[in-house]
Amino acid sequence: MKTLILLSLLVLVPCVRGQLITNTEGRKTISLNGQWQAIIDPYESGYYNYRYQPSDNGYFKNAKPKNKSELIEYDFDKSETLKVPGDWNTQSDQLFFYEGTVWYKKSFDYQRKPNTRLFVYFGGANYFADVYLNGEKLGEHEGGFTPFNFEITNRVKDTDNFLIVKVDNKRRRDAVPTLMTDWWNYGGITREVKLIETPATFVSDYMVQLQKGSRDRVTGWVKLSGDKLNQKITVRIPEAGVSKTFTTDASGSAMVDFTANLKLWSPDDPKLYDVFIDAETDQVREQIGFRSIETRGTDILLNGRPIFLRGVCIHEEAPLRGGRGYSREDAVTLLSWAKELGANFVRLAHYPHNEFMVREADRMGIMVWSEIPVYWTIQWENPDTLKNARNQLQEVITRDKNRAAVVIWSVANETPLSDARLTFLKDLISHARHLDPTRLLSAAMERHYTNPTTQMIDDPLGEFLDVLGCNEYVGWYDGLPEKADGLEWKSKYQKPLVMSEFGGDALFGHHGDSLTRWTEEYQESIYQHQISMLKKIPFLRGTSPWILTDFRSPRRPLPGIQDYWNRKGLISDRGEKKKAFYVLQGWYQEMR
Ligand code: GCU
Repeated sequence: MKTLILLSLLVLVPCVRGQLITNTEGRKTISLNGQWQAIIDPYESGYYNYRYQPSDNGYFKNAKPKNKSELIEYDFDKSETLKVPGDWNTQSDQLFFYEGTVWYKKSFDYQRKPNTRLFVYFGGANYFADVYLNGEKLGEHEGGFTPFNFEITNRVKDTDNFLIVKVDNKRRRDAVPTLMTDWWNYGGITREVKLIETPATFVSDYMVQLQKGSRDRVTGWVKLSGDKLNQKITVRIPEAGVSKTFTTDASGSAMVDFTANLKLWSPDDPKLYDVFIDAETDQVREQIGFRSIETRGTDILLNGRPIFLRGVCIHEEAPLRGGRGYSREDAVTLLSWAKELGANFVRLAHYPHNEFMVREADRMGIMVWSEIPVYWTIQWENPDTLKNARNQLQEVITRDKNRAAVVIWSVANETPLSDARLTFLKDLISHARHLDPTRLLSAAMERHYTNPTTQMIDDPLGEFLDVLGCNEYVGWYDGLPEKADGLEWKSKYQKPLVMSEFGGDALFGHHGDSLTRWTEEYQESIYQHQISMLKKIPFLRGTSPWILTDFRSPRRPLPGIQDYWNRKGLISDRGEKKKAFYVLQGWYQEMR
């Protein structure tokens, strides 16, 4: 039996396609953040020739005229610069609404070392990135919210390297997300860029977590990359007196399986341990928390005990300054506001947020719902769209699988019912379970009326989820706030429900009676009526109202009120708390 379990886990070790390096914080890195030269190229003339065929002589060559007669029609070094990390939309008024291609260039020197490999790592670039080094293509990446890296060991020079990235954030029907979203399509190299140095054979990836439902059995795996793949690996947790040795097989993989007496991570006590992965040729250290998360009937159990997820949704809008958030400070500000609300849980909508967000959630004791942007009307029948969604799921799970804070993977938001959609999402669910058997699966579904006062959750997708997510806007898109009072909720499933969205818009400082739209009083009234409705739902085990702060959206032009901001935040874009903030805070305090 034990051999069978171990054999089934072996398939979990990811194959080495462009192996995504994890825990970059725990490795030797050189930052490439800062000002990068940038060329705005709306017609992609740096990529295509006038026949719209890819040119061999594009901007990635960083060509310079060799003599006075040579014709070169671009020059990075005389071009404007853009800050990396950062979206381009909030760095220049010209680019505020810009959707298209921008070329980025960064020059750097690097002293090569024997027995050392080198990778270039991107935390994220929205949406499609073509990456070149010294005029040669390294590769490409699709998806604006997950990391990627390329090995450059045999391509880097000691001096005058030029790294060029073509970033295109044009929306496409077959993409993930697709054409229509309710958030700003911030483009650019939106997250950190760094060089990662490793030994010739290094610990490229590992998973060390409690087995589902257990409070003392640690299972997982370690993966080596390089030529010395058959090694002894020791997993050490000095503070817990753990030192366990395993042997990698010919592919450099070793299964990890041991029991240990560990203090469990929880919001009240977010215990993190220093965990060391010692190989003969490399060592990696990481702070990891150990907790179990599971469901039993309509309950969600953290470390075996029922828990209510007191949450709020968050978009990755940089607090106070706007634009795509990317820093540890941004994460701490947003999560501290959530803590102030009394939250022990956040839904990071609708795409993987930067890694600082989940690492700070680990440290601050906030459970996380992590989502990929399978949002609204995705092209369900398109196999490339599915492949893309699977890849984004794999990349976020690879990056965050050792974060105790992450308890739920969500595969979709408000997607219309159809057989093709169900097939698509079932595929993603089984892919996630294959990659990570320790966490819960969910999705933000919709509900319907079975009669004027009964809401029913019976989306066929619910059968394949552990936790039901449901978005409802009673009092905003659906009637007036008091409509919630008479509503009853029913579910086809004996499963826990997280009300993953509810709320309404209010402009901070805009006051009136509780029936006047856009006022703080109207929003306050929505929350008051929502809370009394939610309290009556017997299978409700969590809430994440929409949303912690106002965020930019191209779908919200109402002058003087929205001005391209979705105003459903409990906190304004300037950090001001609206009346509804205190209504929710009161309920969450009541529940503690
Ligand atoms: C939807 C959606 C959000 C959107 C919100 C709104 O439910 O999931 O992305 O911003 O409603 O309309 O404000």
